[in-house]
Amino acid sequence: MLTLKSVQDEASWSELAPSDRVTAGTEAAPREGPWPVGQHDFVVAACRLPVDLVQGVDGDEWRPSPGGLVSALDPVMRDAGGAWVGWMGAAGEAPEPFEVAGLHLIPVGLSAEEVRDFYEGFSNATLWPLYHDVIAPPEFQRSWWDAYVRVNERFARAVAAQSAVGATVWVNDYQLQLVPKMLRDRRSDLSIGVFIHIPFPGYEIFAQLPWRRQIVNGLLGADLIGFQRHGDAANFLRACRQAAGMVTSGSMVRVPDAGQESAGEAAAVTANGSNSRRRRQPDVSRNVQTATLPISIDWASYADLVKREDVRARARENRDALGRPDVVLLGIDRLDYTKGILHRLNAYGELLSEGRFGSLQTVLVLVASPSRERVEQYRLLRDEVEVTVARINGDHGELGNPPIHYLHQTYPTEEMASLYLAADVMLVTSLRDGMNLVAKEYVACREDESGALVLSEFTGAADELTSAFLVNPHDIEGMKDAIVRAATVPPAEARRRMRSMRRRVREFDVNRWAASFLAALRQASSLR
Ligand code: F6P
Repeated sequence: MLTLKSVQDEASWSELAPSDRVTAGTEAAPREGPWPVGQHDFVVAACRLPVDLVQGVDGDEWRPSPGGLVSALDPVMRDAGGAWVGWMGAAGEAPEPFEVAGLHLIPVGLSAEEVRDFYEGFSNATLWPLYHDVIAPPEFQRSWWDAYVRVNERFARAVAAQSAVGATVWVNDYQLQLVPKMLRDRRSDLSIGVFIHIPFPGYEIFAQLPWRRQIVNGLLGADLIGFQRHGDAANFLRACRQAAGMVTSGSMVRVPDAGQESAGEAAAVTANGSNSRRRRQPDVSRNVQTATLPISIDWASYADLVKREDVRARARENRDALGRPDVVLLGIDRLDYTKGILHRLNAYGELLSEGRFGSLQTVLVLVASPSRERVEQYRLLRDEVEVTVARINGDHGELGNPPIHYLHQTYPTEEMASLYLAADVMLVTSLRDGMNLVAKEYVACREDESGALVLSEFTGAADELTSAFLVNPHDIEGMKDAIVRAATVPPAEARRRMRSMRRRVREFDVNRWAASFLAALRQASSLR
């Protein structure tokens, strides 16, 4: 590990006065002309920087930004150095590149319209629901697509401007799927890897996307495309064949060179088409490798955190504040419809109504951090969650003793760790989730091997944490049984389960994930 200051250090972020903000040259630029060359040998691109510009009481300030992607990439970047290209979470001109805690951050600016059309629109009201198995209906709007193309090009140019000749570029997630091809077309010297942090849907769902071929071709500009689960990679390979007429062999895709691409595209078959309609592939082609590389957490930082006396004291305080119940259940998520928060609440409410916990006093702490609040589905979900919490508390609470403590807030890592320490049962009930790092964080914090994890089968984490109490969140009866079993598990069984999960997360931590990705990228680039 590099000995750099943590990006969670809010003081250092807020030292950057908003008045430092100036145009960073990442605004939409003419498509013509050569693309710039920079000085970094390693460049990461993600929709978000690890910090957001937010309005605090004393004016604008920088705060750690939300999401699993940032929490995973942050320690990797602190180790590796290089530049991080991303958006700062608010509309406006980009500040000049700046350096904090050894991270070289390159902001990309988005106008208010682009926040609406690129971020809230195409990224989070089209792709997000589509890629999460249409839990909410995706919206397809042509003006959103245009903004997606424009913003992806801005990111691609910003990345090029940072990348030295022959540099390694790591593009992240569904918001930037066109960046690999845009870079490949202008900077063929680069070694380009992309990692999709969320699920990649089955073809029957993906095929709904009017721009499916462009998305597939955009990703295929990379040398390596990483996914969380085998199923995601398999779904993508099928999309390559069916949406873009590519030939696949095992985990590899053969991509015709630029001049020949249109031939392959013309041969793309429709949803129920077959290989027989595909033309012979041209002789000149590039190989693109796909790989399954489940993301993880910075084990060592959590292990250190839960040894700290202030964090342990805070955990005791939290339990006291809850009235020292027999069992503390905990849910921590972004307030997102993919997380199955309502399913969890309904299961807990029914358990209380049926008296299934017997004489055990239970409390559910529900942390739902604000997310994408201007997207309609998120506003509707918040209303529904809050009505449900109020109903359960109204039905089952006593004065000063509600069964659910609901917190619509974002907490620093220390506070999260103290909550993990205070919780006997962790509830992760996603309807669909690329990985779910909260599950892994809980496991990392349980150093005395106590505690129980109730985990949805529909998370990437379920492939690895097989000793959890696995549930189908749509099966409310099954989930209720699992919650009761987790709340009453004998200590020896809890230890056996937790020990095995801890072994897995310790061994496959985020450093190993990043090292595996970069090793696979080196190999893929050499075989290109
Ligand atoms: O990990 C999935 C992810 O969507 C990231 O891409 C994203 O940065 C994070 O969750 C949080 O979402 P948002 O950036 O929209 O707040």
